[in-house]
Amino acid sequence: MIVDRLERPLGSLRVSVTDRCNLRCRYCMPEQEYVWLPKQSILTFEEIARLVGIFAGLGVAKVRLTGGEPLLRHDLPTLVRMLARTGGVRDLALTTNGLLLAKQMQALRHAGLARVTVSLDTLRPERMRELARSDRHVDVLAGITAARAAGLPVKLNTVVIRGVNDDELIELIEFARAAQAEVRFIEYMDVGGATGWSAEQVFSQRDMLARLSAHYGSIAAVPSQDVAAPAERFRLSDGTTFGIIASTTAPFCRSCDRSRLTADGTWFLCLYAARGIDLREPLRDGASDSDIQELITRTWRGRTDRGAEQRLGVVERSPLYPVEGLRADPHREMHTRGG
Ligand code: GTP
Ligand code: 5AD
Ligand code: SF4
Repeated sequence: MIVDRLERPLGSLRVSVTDRCNLRCRYCMPEQEYVWLPKQSILTFEEIARLVGIFAGLGVAKVRLTGGEPLLRHDLPTLVRMLARTGGVRDLALTTNGLLLAKQMQALRHAGLARVTVSLDTLRPERMRELARSDRHVDVLAGITAARAAGLPVKLNTVVIRGVNDDELIELIEFARAAQAEVRFIEYMDVGGATGWSAEQVFSQRDMLARLSAHYGSIAAVPSQDVAAPAERFRLSDGTTFGIIASTTAPFCRSCDRSRLTADGTWFLCLYAARGIDLREPLRDGASDSDIQELITRTWRGRTDRGAEQRLGVVERSPLYPVEGLRADPHREMHTRGG
């Protein structure tokens, strides 16, 4: 196990398999046009599996496939099968918007996928049209049903935006309970494609707990077994649990064990990091596993990132990158670095 300068182990890796997405959520991809990663730069499954194997050899036990929308990548179950067989990988999960999930669920399960997280920002189809420019709400619900039917643990991710969907917290908890899933409410973050972000739109963890306890009565914090998990978990008096990811008002950088790999093999040590480390070049230039392992080890040992905590100190906070800044380097996009 290797640790960074703040004693944080390298424990989990988020692997973005494509920067493309079939939704246009206003907090992530609000613009009309995007600069995409060049096709020839996208890692093959073999290249991804090799890198994941190297990371696993360094102690990474949790791997999460993300995008963009990961199910847009052709034949994702094949990659899942390759990664599920990688020694050291104990938890293989997928974060998806759910549109294509129902169709692929069986194949993903057979390939060895262990858990699924589906983004669900609203229960109202007409609201999804506004929020994500899509009329396929029914497909998302079908995806959630299919994942539960396949027997996988399911989490739901809801980015809560004041004045947009903060009136649905209770309905979402009720929905999750009925669907046997755990919902996590996520504070609106000012990173990546969040060009429409403003502090006023952040519905904070505090706001959420106030809203929920007014309805449900006392809410208990659930002690965490996983110190590196971004979500704090809570329990209602009837036993229903839910999570809150308070990246904006109460960041968890102190215990952050994660890094992320973009679809073109750029390795980011922090969601907020300005630059990543190019792993594609050594990979394609004939570097050996131990060369790459050495590069990763050296880089992680020097890591001091705590991007979200540093944002707390910014007065008059506005989006981290204006649109021009994002266009100049698509690696700054949330849909490129995997949410
Ligand atoms: P598990 O806890 O393993 O289920 O997964 P997860 O919660 O890490 O993964 P998921 O893809 O569901 O991420 C949920 C949300 O956490 C994302 O939408 C982000 O808002 C936030 N998040 C994920 N990774 C990071 C990170 O590295 N830093 C910060 N500040 N927030 C993150
Ligand atoms: N704030 C909070 N969460 C975000 N995501 C994307 N952009 C933002 C943002 N600006 C989330 C998605 C998904 C995850 C992968 O990243 O909702 O759950
Ligand atoms: Fe980790 Fe950076 Fe996210 Fe903090 S902001 S939790 S250091 S990735």
